[in-house]
Amino acid sequence: MRVDHGAAPVRAHERATTGTARVAGSATAVAHPNIALIKYWGKRDERLVLPRTDSLSMTLDIFPTITQVRLGAETGQDTVTLDGAAVTGEALRRVVAFLDLVREQAASLRRAVVDTENTVPTGAGLASSASGFAALAVAAATAYGLDLDARALSRLARRGSGSAARSLFGGFALWHAGPADAPAPAADLASYAEPVPVAELDPALVVAVVDAGPKPVSSRAAMRRTVDTSPLYEPWARSSADDLAAMRTALRRGDLDAVGETAERNALGMHATMLAARPAVRYLAPASLTVLDAVLRLRQDGIPAYATMDAGPNVKVLCRRTDAGRVAAAVRDAAPDTAVHIAGPGPGARLLDGDAR
Ligand code: DP6
Repeated sequence: MRVDHGAAPVRAHERATTGTARVAGSATAVAHPNIALIKYWGKRDERLVLPRTDSLSMTLDIFPTITQVRLGAETGQDTVTLDGAAVTGEALRRVVAFLDLVREQAASLRRAVVDTENTVPTGAGLASSASGFAALAVAAATAYGLDLDARALSRLARRGSGSAARSLFGGFALWHAGPADAPAPAADLASYAEPVPVAELDPALVVAVVDAGPKPVSSRAAMRRTVDTSPLYEPWARSSADDLAAMRTALRRGDLDAVGETAERNALGMHATMLAARPAVRYLAPASLTVLDAVLRLRQDGIPAYATMDAGPNVKVLCRRTDAGRVAAAVRDAAPDTAVHIAGPGPGARLLDGDAR
């Protein structure tokens, strides 16, 4: 398996491709995680993974996932490994359900061997399911001979994990929820991600890994509980539409402060919905708040820095690329046990050479 860790240039029109339409039998793909600046939190259809709201993210240039899919016989089971260890239980069930979708589209009964290498801590709110299902979508579609364009691949990846729909694309991507009242086939077709045009903006995300352990509640279960029980959910979902409009304007103008302010309020609002769920879902740890305080101090010192958090205690700080070293140092000073990584905008998912032939 060849791994290209270099950060490819990001272009707004960058698209993933599955290459040829014939059954390759084997394919390897790479995808990077993305961090939402406008969050996806809440589904309106669990089976089709249709979100309640639109979301918008930046794909990172660190923590790639590399996945190889090899087709086997029509009998037996799918086998899945993650970093060399057999995947079992719920995680295996999700991958097999995803492969079943691909097999249905490809009219194939062949079982698969799936080997994944993750460079991001799995299940810690660092978007490993986004890069994981994006890489799996590209590799499996190619191995089974599906000729899907980027939009169709995005829809397919969405069925594995909603946020994976956005990791198909480099740079910034918008995932459309689609019309709320459309019937199933039309709703499925209308919910995909696509690249977002961005003006001159040289952003970095400083990723503060406060705790790399697995999260206590999966994002899937937590968002279900929030939608079902939180009195703050509907107000947040409504205000998220306004946040998205503000975000798109800010990105078009290349206004990093407006991008950051909007991302921070959208993320804090999302965490407020969870805190109001019954029972509450609380992902933030004391060290997360320490990092949030450090971000406030940076702003008081005149450094534009804005925080966002996902389904875990880790904090991602949006800032100018030129300030990233200083922001990382401030985070390390405030929370010395925190591992800090600096990410820039990364490339979309793609096939790796040497396997699909
Ligand atoms: C907080 O995409 O992991 O990171 O669709 O159930 O697999 P499923 O959820 P997932 O949720 C991500 C939630 C989030 C926000 C975001 O990435 O937009």
